[in-house]
Amino acid sequence: MPDTRATPLAQPVLEPDEVLVESEAIRQRGPEAELGASAFVLEIGFGRAELIMELARARPAQCFLGVEVSRKRVQKAARRIARAGIPNLRVVHATAEYLLERVLRADSVSECWINFPDPWPKKRHHRRRLLRREVLPLLARVLRPGAILHLATDYLPYADSIDGLLAGSELFDNLHAPEPWSRIAPQRCTTAYEQEFLAEGRAIAYFEYKRLEARE
Ligand SMILES: C[S@@+](CC[C@H](N)C(=O)[O-])C[C@H]1O[C@@H](n2cnc3c(N)ncnc32)[C@H](O)[C@@H]1O
Repeated sequence: MPDTRATPLAQPVLEPDEVLVESEAIRQRGPEAELGASAFVLEIGFGRAELIMELARARPAQCFLGVEVSRKRVQKAARRIARAGIPNLRVVHATAEYLLERVLRADSVSECWINFPDPWPKKRHHRRRLLRREVLPLLARVLRPGAILHLATDYLPYADSIDGLLAGSELFDNLHAPEPWSRIAPQRCTTAYEQEFLAEGRAIAYFEYKRLEARE
């Protein structure tokens, strides 16, 4: 008798512990072995991972890596990604600074997203901000020439500080010039924090910068 049972639903392509990669493995074995390509799209501080999941689904020919400092968020995201069966997306538990400085290779990132980094409003906490003077060269090193850096913040004093850093850098070109940023979101799904900020009617600054060729 032929088996007439319905074909079972497709199994997830990866297990959560395959989606979650170790930073040391990326450093030692390289992005081809761990992520599937020598160049990939990076999201820093992905939170609930809705954006990077959507991007990876929409662009199956590209590889994606998300980095998050919250272990819980990384573990949750790995389970969600495995359940959704997204084969071209990996997540790593690390600080962005460590990943950028010690793990990723130069010119390995083809695009980078940083949405709503923690604003740390108190002056004495500004040194905890992700976008600060020392981090810019780390980002510039891993972004390949032509790569787009997308940034968003709802905290306008932080937007001013980001503008000061990026506008003064010879390594990046502002795609919204002569405006420092745009008020219009790029074509992508809204992130969890963004939805909250939009519901509160807050103004959001969206930056798009292109990594330039290094000048001698
Ligand atoms: C305000 S939330 C925004 C989350 C998400 N991007 C969104 O828009 O909904 C900031 C996120 O960045 C993560 N984060 C903060 N500092 C980080 C760092 N140094 N490296 C990596 N992730 C970081 C936090 O754990 C948190 O998930």
